[in-house]
Amino acid sequence: VLADYGISPTHGFLPDVLPLTRLPDPYYNKWEAIVANLQGLILSRRLRGVIDRLPVLSTVGLEHEAEWRRAYVLLCFMAHGYIWGGDSPSDRLPPPIAVPLIQISEHLELPPVATYAAVCLWNFKPLFMDEDIDNLENLATLATFTGALDESWFYLVSVAMEARGAPIIPLMLTAIAAAREGDAHAVTRCLHTFAERLDDLGSLLQRMHENCDPHIFYHRIRPFLAGSKNMAEAGLPCGVRYEDGSGGEPYRQYAGGSNAQSSLIQFFDIVLGIEHRPTGEKRGPANDPREGRAPPPKHNFIEEMRQYMPGPHARFLRDVQAVANIREFVEARPHDRPLCVAYDACLAMLSALRDKHIAIVTRYIVMPSREARARSRSPEATRTNGPAARGRLNLATASRRAFQPTGIAFGATEANAVVKKGGANLKGTGGTALISFLKQARDETGEPAVEEW
Ligand code: HEM
Ligand code: ALA
Repeated sequence: VLADYGISPTHGFLPDVLPLTRLPDPYYNKWEAIVANLQGLILSRRLRGVIDRLPVLSTVGLEHEAEWRRAYVLLCFMAHGYIWGGDSPSDRLPPPIAVPLIQISEHLELPPVATYAAVCLWNFKPLFMDEDIDNLENLATLATFTGALDESWFYLVSVAMEARGAPIIPLMLTAIAAAREGDAHAVTRCLHTFAERLDDLGSLLQRMHENCDPHIFYHRIRPFLAGSKNMAEAGLPCGVRYEDGSGGEPYRQYAGGSNAQSSLIQFFDIVLGIEHRPTGEKRGPANDPREGRAPPPKHNFIEEMRQYMPGPHARFLRDVQAVANIREFVEARPHDRPLCVAYDACLAMLSALRDKHIAIVTRYIVMPSREARARSRSPEATRTNGPAARGRLNLATASRRAFQPTGIAFGATEANAVVKKGGANLKGTGGTALISFLKQARDETGEPAVEEW
C-alpha cells in the first residue's frame, strides 16, 4: 500500500531509488553544467545571461520518475538562482526555465518553485552505499546555491530526520490497525517506540547548530529560498511571470521553501490527532467540528503546505487523516495508565521537538535580523554612508564591516528586506509570522493531553 503513495517502508518520504546524481540523457547536459557551476555563475552575475541563451529543452527525454525528480531539482535551483541571484530580483522566468519547469511540476504534482522536495527530499546522496542514510556522517547534497557547507548541512539535517523517522510510518499504521481491533497492548507498544523515535529526531534537529552558522544562513542561504507570494517589499509586488509561451503569461505567486512542507511531521500530527488551526485562532467550541459546527474557512498555513508536497504524499496524508483513530482510542480508555502515559509521552516529545525548533528560529532568523536592523540604524552606519563620509575612511567601521556579512557582496539581499523591515513584519520564507505561528503549533501539540473534550 505504501508504494501506491510513493512511500518507501525504509526511507519514508525519501525516494526508494536514490536521487540521480545526473540525468542519463546527454541531451540535458546543459542543465547539468549550469547547476554544477551554479555558485560561480551566481557570484559572477552571469547566471541570468547563460539561462537567457539556453535553448528550451523538451521533457520527452525524461523516462523514469527518478529522472523527472532530478530535472525538477535542476530547474528549481536554476529558477531561484535566476530570481534572487542578481542585484535586484527578477520578476520573470524566461522560457528555457519556465516551459520545462511547468511541465515537470505538473507531472510531479508540485508547484514550480523550490519546495522541500527540491532542496531536501530529492537532493542528497549517501557517501558510502553500504551505510544508512539516517546518519548525517553519510550524507552529501547534490545541488546548492552557495557551495557552503552550512547550506548542505541545513538541507541534510532534514534528510537525516526523514530517514530516521521513516520507520515510524509503518509503525503507526500498525497502531491504527491495532486500535481498530481494540488491541490496547499493541497500541501502547507502538506509541512507546514512537515517543523514543521522536526524542531521537529532536537530537538530530539539535545538530543544526554544529555546522550551519546563523549569519551565513540568514544572509547568504535563506534569501534564495524565498518565494514570490507577499514579496512586494522584497521587490516582487506581483510575483513572478512564468514565460511559458501560453500567452498572457500572468504573474504567479508561490510560498517559499519551508520544512512545513515535510509530510513526515504532518503525518505525526495526523496520527496523534493533533489539530492545527488557522493562525491566531483560539481553541473553542465554535472551532470544534465535533460540536457539529464547521470551522470557518480561514487560511490554514499547515494545510496549505500540502499543496507543496509531491501529489502522492499529500494524498497519503489525506487518507491517513480519514482513518486516524488513536486519540479517540486513548480518550475512551482514561483508566489504562500505560496507554495514556505512552500517548502523552508522544505529545510531550513532539512538543519538545517544536520547542527546539523555535529556539533554532530565534537564533537563525530573529537574532540576525535584529542585528542587521540595529546596524542599519547605528549612527556610524549613517555617518559612513552619508555624504559627509565620502572620501573619508572610517577604519574602525570599515574593518568591523568586513567581518559582518551584509549579503550585499553576494546579492540576493532583497528577499531578506522583508525581514529586515521590522520585528512586526518578520516573516518566514513560507510566509508565516514566524514565532507566533510556531508557538501556536507547539501549543496545539500539547492540547489533547491537558484538557478533556
Ligand atoms: C516551519 C525556520 C529547520 C520543521 C518553519 C517556519 C520557519 C522555520 C520560519 C515557519 C514557516 C515559514 O513561514 O517558513 C527554520 C529554520 C531552520 C529550520 C531557520 C534551520 C536553520 C527545520 C528542520 C525541520 C523543521 C530541520 C525538521 C523537522 C519545520 C516544521 C514547520 C517549520 C514542521 C511547520 C510548523 C510546525 O509544524 O510546527 N521553520 N526551520 N524546520 N519548520 Fe523549520
Ligand atoms: N522557512 C525557513 C525560513 O523562514 C527556511 O527561513
